Amino acid sequence: MSDDNRAEDTPTHSFGSSVPASQKVALSESPAATRTASPPGTPIVAVSGVDYTLDVAGRPLHILRNVALEVQPAEVVAIVGPSGSGKTSLLMLLAGLERATSGRVLVDGQDLTALSDDELTLFRRHTLGIVFQSFHLIPSLTALDNVGLALEIARPDLTLAQTRAAASEALAAVGLADRVHHRPAALSGASSSASASPAP
Ligand SMILES: Nc1ncnc2c1ncn2[C@@H]1O[C@H](COP(=O)(O)OP(=O)(O)O)[C@@H](O)[C@H]1O
Ligand SMILES: [Mg+2]
Repeated sequence: MSDDNRAEDTPTHSFGSSVPASQKVALSESPAATRTASPPGTPIVAVSGVDYTLDVAGRPLHILRNVALEVQPAEVVAIVGPSGSGKTSLLMLLAGLERATSGRVLVDGQDLTALSDDELTLFRRHTLGIVFQSFHLIPSLTALDNVGLALEIARPDLTLAQTRAAASEALAAVGLADRVHHRPAALSGASSSASASPAP
């Protein structure tokens, strides 16, 4: 019964191998195993020596240990592994939603471990987009207003007309030009996903 309450000596999780090599991340237990022959240019993601430990009922729960990962710009990556192996936790660290206990998490050249809470908020607003499994659209707002709301927060310098025009353009770009006035309940899963993802 206590299987899910991992103790201090829990081994580091490893990630599975069911994805083609070209799409796999280089997760390793040792920084030495990190890819060194990177193509020219700075990696968009560079994680090294990352530990993520939570205090659960006064005991350390080691969720990630000594994780290394490097992703190049435009590279498509799938993180694979059994349930509970730490995929979501790693994504939370990359998104600046949780903080690594130790190690470095560089995304687009910014070391997230060194940012204040306010700086992390700005990082999430301007640098990184997240599409969650559940879309977190606001049910009472149309697709246009859901997209416009995010833009209004990110770009307070725009007029309402400019915001709406940009939101409309972004929805058209993902094939939802005829759905701008629909509320989330009237959108399919794929359309909701698209509404949650346009980055005007
Ligand atoms: N906030 C938390 N409190 C306690 N345990 C957590 C918390 N977040 C994640 N875990 C535990 O960390 C492990 C990894 O979880 P998770 O990152 O969600 O794995 P995955 O996404 O690969 O299924 C699991 O054992 C999970 O129960
Ligand atoms: Mg998960």
